[in-house]
Amino acid sequence: MRGAVQDSGALMRMILIGPAGAGKGTQAQNLVTRYGFPHISSGDMLREAVREGTELGKAADGFMKRGALVPDEVVIGMILERISRADCAKGFMLDGFPRTRPQAEALDQALTAAGVHLDVVLHIDVPDAALIERITGRRTDPLTGTIYHLKFKPPPPEVFSRLQHRDDDTEAAVRIRIEKYHRDTTQCIPFYAERGLLKTVDGVGTPDEVLMRVTAALQTAGAAH
Ligand code: AP5
Repeated sequence: MRGAVQDSGALMRMILIGPAGAGKGTQAQNLVTRYGFPHISSGDMLREAVREGTELGKAADGFMKRGALVPDEVVIGMILERISRADCAKGFMLDGFPRTRPQAEALDQALTAAGVHLDVVLHIDVPDAALIERITGRRTDPLTGTIYHLKFKPPPPEVFSRLQHRDDDTEAAVRIRIEKYHRDTTQCIPFYAERGLLKTVDGVGTPDEVLMRVTAALQTAGAAH
């Protein structure tokens, strides 16, 4: 791999998988507070690259706006470089990566080459019918990174004027993202199930209810410390 993931008494290496709006980012914020490992969101990294106008951002922008997947060769290099950094030596949480079977295979090869392994892959399962309302109502606070929802997690009035609505959170783009999830990302699920790493949790309910299921799943995976 580009760089090396060091094995120095890892706390946890985990992946969050789920469709757009499943609550990956919401649960990631809770888990990072609790476990303290780096939260590596491929979507956040790509959005930052777009904002900064880097070559990577220019390559990704059009795909993201229309809800398509950014090509594997762009995303794989970005993530493998990120997890090779020192702050990931004791663990990490990947959110939104892998999203295709080739991405899962590339990650597997890189971790094997570095002599380390994943602890758990957490799949947050939410029916399509709930996803569009969740995504179109999402607003994010750019100052704190807090994810709100106009109905399910209303923002306090004092932050309202600065909230952001993502370019790809339109109904048309979400429908494409959900279709891509079913076509491409679900292929990662048997890949991890065969390796005994997959834990599926029901993502319907309040964010706190889902967090309880997520925490229980991590404990049964032996991944929570
Ligand atoms: P990315 O940023 O990863 O977006 P996504 O996977 O579509 O997921 P979202 O961030 O939309 O949803 P989430 O599951 O995090 O939900 P959240 O917690 O915010 O990717 C964006 C784009 O980048 C992709 O389309 C692609 O173009 C590109 N990309 C990224 N990674 C890639 C890769 N590996 N390969 C190729 N391309 C890649 O919650 C959503 C809303 O619901 C919020 O408002 C929240 O408050 C609310 N909510 C959360 N939980 C609940 C609950 N339990 N009940 C009610 N509401 C809830």
